[in-house]
Amino acid sequence: MSKVKIGIVGSRFQADCIAASVRAMPEEAEVIAVASPTSGNADAFAQRHGIPKSYSDYREMLRDPAIEMVSITAPNRLHARITIDAARAGKHVICEKPLCITLEEADAMIDACAEAGVLLLYAEELFFAPKYVKAKQMADEGAFGRIHLVKQSEKHSGPHSDWFWDVEQSGGGALMDLGCHGIAFCWWFLGKPAVRSVYAQLSTQVHAARTAGDDEAITIIEFDNGAVGMVENSWNRPGGMDDSIEVFGASGQTYADMLMGNALPTYSEVGFGYAVEKAASTKGWTYPVFEEHWNYGFPQEMRHFARCVRGKERPISDGETGRVVQEVLYAAYASAGLGRKITLPFRPRGIAKPIDLWKKPEMAEAAL
Ligand SMILES: NC(=O)c1ccc[n+]([C@@H]2O[C@H](COP(=O)([O-])OP(=O)(O)OC[C@H]3O[C@@H](n4cnc5c(N)ncnc54)[C@H](O)[C@@H]3O)[C@@H](O)[C@H]2O)c1
Repeated sequence: MSKVKIGIVGSRFQADCIAASVRAMPEEAEVIAVASPTSGNADAFAQRHGIPKSYSDYREMLRDPAIEMVSITAPNRLHARITIDAARAGKHVICEKPLCITLEEADAMIDACAEAGVLLLYAEELFFAPKYVKAKQMADEGAFGRIHLVKQSEKHSGPHSDWFWDVEQSGGGALMDLGCHGIAFCWWFLGKPAVRSVYAQLSTQVHAARTAGDDEAITIIEFDNGAVGMVENSWNRPGGMDDSIEVFGASGQTYADMLMGNALPTYSEVGFGYAVEKAASTKGWTYPVFEEHWNYGFPQEMRHFARCVRGKERPISDGETGRVVQEVLYAAYASAGLGRKITLPFRPRGIAKPIDLWKKPEMAEAAL
């Protein structure tokens, strides 16, 4: 069967990751086009990755009949519009995290893809990270007995692009940006049980001058099977990206540090080119990673999605996954606003962005 032909929307951070990841496992897919509003950027990206076509308007790219699947790496506020446009053009969609800004958008995205008969694939790469997959395999085998606590933490020194800091464009702060990974991870790891309740503690500890968003977040999720998920996120951790899990059961536990745990403990007085995402310096003690994309699971994720398009595999992360995460994000922001646990289902309508439920607790109260 021919390779699945992908068009990428966006040409910066995550777009680079997707293009490199498809190249790393090239048997199932190839990137044949990129669209990004600044045409010079799209052209430069195409040249950098050896991609034949570049566009400055993604809608023009969607008219290309050769493209079967679109990978959306644009800012969060554009995910819904681009997904719906792509679905109507008959393209399968891979949407980066978080799925969107509002629950209404999540519904509209899922409906548009269902109506068009295309797949909506939610790009949660932690489901493919080799260390985390190994932890889940052991858990599913019964290695830890009944699991009662799963922890996931993702922390770094703050996002690279301005729009993340602007809650009008991002929908929220560190919880929205990084917590979406941990929420999805705990849910997936435990076998996708229903969420019973959510409690969150949010604050802006360091970056109040730059953002109205939360830069510290702790979220506790209670699942229907009685297990608990705990998600910790920060935009205040200098020294490079930190991503780790802990799993506790009646008969055992496991710990995995995705990046530092796979790195070379290194000391250099002069520094060197690159250590890990978001590390500001390579002088002194650092933890340079190798095979960074592979350790996250990005190439494996793209391979899986391409195989889903060809009917060789069933999606393990889809629009429904993104919607589950979105509802927990709503509940977490509402919990922080009200200072109490929120029970699910929690699907308030008419909320412009999740963080409003924290900043305006009366909106959260009205939704209960
Ligand atoms: N899975 C992950 O771990 C991960 C990592 C980083 C980012 N992301 C997600 O990927 C998305 C993009 O993040 P990023 O870090 O690449 O941001 P970025 O700021 O580096 O890049 C955003 C890109 O979107 C493009 N863009 C802006 N408006 C557009 C429009 N109207 N049409 C088409 N393209 C447009 C910009 O030109 C730019 O190329 C976000 O949703 C983010 O949360 C996911």
